[in-house]
Amino acid sequence: MTNIISYDERIKNFDWSISEKELDYQPGNDINIGWYCSDRICKLGKADKPALIWEGSSGQEKRYTYNDLRLTSNGVGQFLRDLGIKPEDRVCLFMDKIPELYIGFLGVLKIGAIVQPLFSAFGDESLIVRLENAQTTAVITQRKHAPKVRKILDKMPYLKHIIIVDPDPAKPLGEREVAFDMDNAPKPENFVIFPTKAESPSVLHYTSGTTGQPKGVKHVHYSLISQYLTAKWVLDLQDSDIYWCTADPGWVTGTSYGIIGAFSNGVTQCVMDAGFSADNWYKFIEKHRITMWYSAPTAIRSLMKAGDEVIKKYDLSCLRHLASVGEPLNSEAVIWSEKVFGKAFLDTYWQTETGSIMISNYPGMKIKPGSMGKPFPGITATVIDADTFEPFGVPGKIGLIAIKPGWPSMMRTYWRNEETYKKKFKNGWYLPGDRSSIDPEGYFWFVGRDDDVINTGGHLVSPFEVESALLEHPAVAESAVVSKPDFVNMEVVKAFVTLKPGFEPSKDLDLEIMNFVRKKLSPLAMPQEIEFIETLPKTRSGKIMRRILHAKEWGEEIGDTSTLEND
Ligand code: WT7
Repeated sequence: MTNIISYDERIKNFDWSISEKELDYQPGNDINIGWYCSDRICKLGKADKPALIWEGSSGQEKRYTYNDLRLTSNGVGQFLRDLGIKPEDRVCLFMDKIPELYIGFLGVLKIGAIVQPLFSAFGDESLIVRLENAQTTAVITQRKHAPKVRKILDKMPYLKHIIIVDPDPAKPLGEREVAFDMDNAPKPENFVIFPTKAESPSVLHYTSGTTGQPKGVKHVHYSLISQYLTAKWVLDLQDSDIYWCTADPGWVTGTSYGIIGAFSNGVTQCVMDAGFSADNWYKFIEKHRITMWYSAPTAIRSLMKAGDEVIKKYDLSCLRHLASVGEPLNSEAVIWSEKVFGKAFLDTYWQTETGSIMISNYPGMKIKPGSMGKPFPGITATVIDADTFEPFGVPGKIGLIAIKPGWPSMMRTYWRNEETYKKKFKNGWYLPGDRSSIDPEGYFWFVGRDDDVINTGGHLVSPFEVESALLEHPAVAESAVVSKPDFVNMEVVKAFVTLKPGFEPSKDLDLEIMNFVRKKLSPLAMPQEIEFIETLPKTRSGKIMRRILHAKEWGEEIGDTSTLEND
């Protein structure tokens, strides 16, 4: 029996109070995600149930029950409070997928501070723009990532504490650094959780756009109402499940469903903090008897590429339910998963801003491979004309995805950027910035993004950020960054570069520039290919036309070039 029972029944008379009731929440009550994800589950009698089973890269394992989760996150909260961290201060988590990241997340929320997760592979440039925008008070990190924070310390007077979770006892701590040994820290039994309310800020996730700096998406504690119920109905989390969300909490899937959705439903979840290989992944599923697996198209395509033979080495019969998010899930991947695992990956569509699943396939509903499915109950979604912002009213036309605002986990603003936030709404609709069509049966078919943002392996990369980083390299005069097709990652970053006088194209320079971007931004943002060219296509007013370069990479018609300067 699936939790959703019947999609068609659930959309009738749906009200978010269904979720509120299940969580014993009444409007006006305190609502703290940290409490809901640990203390409440203990109160429901599951204190001794495993909450988190963690495996590191050398196979070492750590286990935490729900009671451990409760007490250890109390310990994190106490430590931060003693340091002087106040409600609504921003506390950044800059760590690999280690237990401190998951439990630290709950600890920060328990004191009413705002948690700002950042991907641990970010370089110093990616880091500083996000910490600067958020005016972050403290960063919790590991020894191996601390140098990136130290490097930019002078530029961050507001950053008071760098909390190192694995200090080297033989080495003194640096400026503003303090050690915190989470597992051995005091664990207060009666910790006073800050009484956050529905609209109290909770999570600040950064996401990239086409222009300008990354935007800080502000979420509130009330988001739990959406995250709990979507995890229950779409991911179908049940008491006996062993759940594996492969996403890193540096990104929204890893927090909404890798922390909040999972723990608020009281399931046991496994985390693997090791590099990708098909063998590693299948071994992990077999060993922990994973039943519910939430992953991403790039990972699925990588597994497809590894072939079917490797699957035969493992007993994967434990898998009960599979879902995917982050980028288009092609029909081949759905059909393949059905063939090799006996289960189709259900595609789910949403984004950092929406905080929870918006459009999805559901257990028990007819799946059309290649389609994202239908809106979650309570979500009014359609496709509108890009000029009039009016819904088409007839199926089959491609337009902008539009969602009626008002669900619990919708972002409340872009941090210190209300203007850009307002631009996301047109004619009473929230526009995620994607294009789709809807078929006569109401299924959504994703077409593409409505901007130049590159979605590589499910991660958004801003061409503007990469171009800015490239310009800082001494050899680069001008650059234009677009995507190019890739079997596994769907698209990867490609840079067109013109060189300053005195520099010649060479393989060495090529590698040097790639590395330069990797270090400054991240491995995801690093161009997979650099093409040195004489001049970049520009409009008469001097704007670089990425469109032309993009069309060339994708073998598409170039279209109207009448405003081109140099064709
Ligand atoms: C963008 C959001 C939500 C968690 C991960 C990404 C694209 C997301 C799908 C899907 C096609 C998808 C959209 C969206 N996207 N899911 N199922 N099919 N595209 O969060 O980094 O905020 O990216 O990812 O373009 O707007 P994000």
